[in-house]
Formats: sequence, C-alpha cells, structure tokens
Amino acid sequence: MKLPVLIIHGGAGRHPGGERLALLKAHLARIARQVHPQLSAGMGAVEAVVEANRLLEDCPEFNAGTGSKLQCDGAARLSASLMDGPNERFAGVVNIEGTKNPILLAKALLGERDRTLCGEGARARALELGLEQADVRTPGSIARWEEGKTGTVGAVAVDLQGRIAAGTSTGGRGMERVGRVSDSCTVAGNFATAAAGVSCTGIGEDIVDGALAVRLVTAVDAGLSLEEAAAQLVTRMRGRGWKAGLIALDAHGLWAAIHTTETMYWHVVEPGGEVDGPEIN
Ligand code: GLY
Repeated sequence: MKLPVLIIHGGAGRHPGGERLALLKAHLARIARQVHPQLSAGMGAVEAVVEANRLLEDCPEFNAGTGSKLQCDGAARLSASLMDGPNERFAGVVNIEGTKNPILLAKALLGERDRTLCGEGARARALELGLEQADVRTPGSIARWEEGKTGTVGAVAVDLQGRIAAGTSTGGRGMERVGRVSDSCTVAGNFATAAAGVSCTGIGEDIVDGALAVRLVTAVDAGLSLEEAAAQLVTRMRGRGWKAGLIALDAHGLWAAIHTTETMYWHVVEPGGEVDGPEIN
C-alpha cells in the first residue's frame, strides 16, 4: 500500500484541441504537485481535497469559482460539496452567488448542523464566516457564455492514515435555467466512505440519474475491487448513454479515471510517480 495519493480532475467533454489541452493539463499538474507534498507531510484528506478544489476554483481556465460558466440570465451561481469518507459526513453549497471559493463554505458547513445550504442562505452564512466575496465572472467566462468550453473540477485524496475525502466544485452546465441544481452539490456527484471516494464531472442530470458516485462507492463497500466496480459502472454508463466522467480512489491508494465523454482531464500524484490523461495527440 503506497500512500498518500491525490487525484484531481478539471472536467470532461469534447476534446478541446492540443494547445488548450496542454494548458489544462499544465494547470492540473501544477495544482496536484502543490497539494500532494502537503499530504505527504501529514495533511489530512479533507484538508487536501479542500486545498486542491480551492486552487482549481481560483484558476479561470476551469468551470468552478473564478471563471465559472454563467447561467441563462448571465449570473454565476456556484455549487460545491465535500465528503469526509471515514465519518460519512457530507456538506454542500447550492447555487451561491458572490462567494469566491464555495469549497471553503462546504468545509465550514461540514462541522455544522445545517450542512447543505442554497442561494441566499448560503451567501448569508458565507458572509457571517467572513469568506472572501468576489464577482467570479471574468471577461473569458462572459465570452465563453454560450460556448461551454470549461469543466467542473474535483479532487479525491487518501492520506497517510488511509482516510479518504472527496470534493467537487462547479459553475454548473452553463446557460441553465435559474434554479437548476447541479450534481456537484449532491451525493450523486461527490461521495466517499472509508472504502472509496468519487468526484464526478459531465452532464449533471445524467450523473444524478445514475447516482454515479454513490453507485461506485457502494459497489466497493460491498466488496468489489475499485477496478471491477469502475469497469461495471462504465459499461452501465455507456448502455444508458450517460455523458459523464469520474475520478475515484480506494483506501489502498488504488485509483480509477473513467468517462463516456470524448475526453476527461485528470492528474494523479502517488508515491513514486504521476499519471495523467488524456494523451496530447
Ligand atoms: N456536472 C456539472 C453540472 O452539470 O452541473
């Protein structure tokens, strides 16, 4: 067993072309290489997943935090969630406006009684907590408003103690109806137990229909290897026509990255090496 391991993703969808793919992969590598040494120095899985998502939210090339896709009325409403695997505890933020890093609010909510907050209530709690407020729309996100070329982000970590956490953050699908809820703030899109953790990306409605994160973790909890569970799930995803991808880790540090979209961007750092996808060709 080689721990700790960190796997992160920057979305799934159509192949963006070599130059942009190289840029996205460089950002993922930078962020994974920044966080993994902290895990190696003893940082817990929850903190590592929060830090990876915070850095991804701050990178305007991804559809989370700064640079998020905009909804049909031109507003950015962000969603995120965090799950502490061994404690089986989930916190979520749904469609918050004006808060720079929704993953930091999810982290705070993990220790509270009301652990999933939406809209104005989420914003009010973020203000009470003194979290940084910002207009996360960028000239790029406004220009891309109708193009949809950025992706949801997420991270799954297993720390030196074998504890797993998963976190996911998104600006949503882009151009969606006001009030639409993303998978990224639900257990369909982000789930973990002591056995495994998953962060999803792709079409939120497909991810919720398939309960993808819960389905994969539950299969591992029931005794399947992560590899077997991921192979079964991707077969089901193809059969159903669900357009999505996910990253997953188990408590032994074994990982999986599967998708039914044309591509998915991800990066793993583990003791002794790194793996990423997809190939630039
Ligand atoms: N997976 C992001 C969304 O559809 O909202």
